[in-house]
Amino acid sequence: MSYAVSLPERGTLQAWRAAARLAISHRIPPDQIEWADAGGLFAARVLPTEIGPHQAHVPAAFLKLAGSVIWHTAPERLSLLYQALWRIDHNDAAPLSQADILGRRLNLMAKSVGRDIHKMHAFVRFREIPTDFAKPHARRRFAAWFEPEHNTLEPGATFFAKRFADMDWMIATPRLTAQFCDGALSFGPAGARPDLPDDASETLWATYFANIFNPARIKLDAMRSEMPKKYWKNLPETRLIPEMLKDAEARVQRMRDAGSTASRPGAAAVSTRYRDAMPHAAELPETLDQAQNAAMQCRRCGLCEAATQTVWGEGRRDAALMIVGEQPGDQEDLAGRVFVGPAGQVLRDAMRRAQLDPSRVWLTNAVKHFKFTPRGKRRLHQSPDRQEIEYCRWWLGLEIGFIRPRLTLALGASAAFALTGDATPLSGRRGKVQAGLHDGPVLVTWHPSYILRLPNPDQQHRAQEELLSDLVMAAHLTADGL
Ligand code: URA
Repeated sequence: MSYAVSLPERGTLQAWRAAARLAISHRIPPDQIEWADAGGLFAARVLPTEIGPHQAHVPAAFLKLAGSVIWHTAPERLSLLYQALWRIDHNDAAPLSQADILGRRLNLMAKSVGRDIHKMHAFVRFREIPTDFAKPHARRRFAAWFEPEHNTLEPGATFFAKRFADMDWMIATPRLTAQFCDGALSFGPAGARPDLPDDASETLWATYFANIFNPARIKLDAMRSEMPKKYWKNLPETRLIPEMLKDAEARVQRMRDAGSTASRPGAAAVSTRYRDAMPHAAELPETLDQAQNAAMQCRRCGLCEAATQTVWGEGRRDAALMIVGEQPGDQEDLAGRVFVGPAGQVLRDAMRRAQLDPSRVWLTNAVKHFKFTPRGKRRLHQSPDRQEIEYCRWWLGLEIGFIRPRLTLALGASAAFALTGDATPLSGRRGKVQAGLHDGPVLVTWHPSYILRLPNPDQQHRAQEELLSDLVMAAHLTADGL
């Protein structure tokens, strides 16, 4: 063995690529290089420092494969990758194919790394670290502990940097720590498992999980393969699993007795009540478009008389997240579209900060017509009363039924009442998940108009941050892979 290459723990991919480029440019055969991870090699010749005369042709597909395989924990991946590069440079493309023994091995490694990154994105649970509110606009700080199977923190962390760009956070793993401070991502050595404080999001995760847990649909094997047991110990919600499984059979029976497929006993009764109150109940819409067309003609309460038009929801028709406001405002009534006025601006701005793309969600209102009092040339917003919300709940229920979101975010008291039937003050419920009247959990937060009306700038800032935090939580709860 003539040469030895030892790769660093951070920046491993770039270091491997640089070393492989040097080695191939000098046409050093694979059996003359010993590759190792950091600190794994002793006295041996190091590679030349200057690029040699040979210019290798490296297809993009190989670079992509190497870009995954490099994060696998198997030490032999380094020499296997160089063997593959050597063969490719000798006009043998087989190492890219599953049909080749080496190609198959590398592809399996890449797959395992991809799965591990996916699990990290789904199972990292941040906890909030107290922020110094004395500093104006201090960024909120979060920390998480995670134990990946491979060395995937480095390739996996950019996802969190994009999603939580407005916050400072750190993810500690047994091998490396990722830090995101003031928008800059960096990596440091492994730390001990941090002593993370309990916070509200932990309870929120647990409540959310308990709410979406439907014992009738449970497939234990599928559940274990989606959320392998080794991740359970760091996931707050999984502490509930043994209890929930114990109760599963009894819950299924209760659901059967209620004659409903919904997980919440009583949900069927609610929807029947509203269906029966519908003037044209015989014509139950069969699609979201049919529901929208029917809503355009709605005359279930007096609000249709003065409003310009019904304002229906919009967004992604299979959205995992539905956001529900109170009712259209003056501008929405004229435009026929939700959240295009000042409150919409606050909401859309907070969504942008939470990295929540509006095209990923379904945006709608509890009440579909604008309620107002004329004052001169102006139309002053009036909140809908309970009965108006209850009449309109029919349409909201249809939207939920067709879109089937995994989570609904209620903006303000009217939406929270429409979705949960609970009319208690919002101050004690904000940031918490409640069971919905329709299938699925409801996260309650402030309405953007309430924030706009707050007279004190500090209160306004705090409420804005709380709305942001709830949107981030909603994005996290409905992230892919959960
Ligand atoms: N407020 C809402 O609740 N919904 C809108 O669409 C606009 C303002």
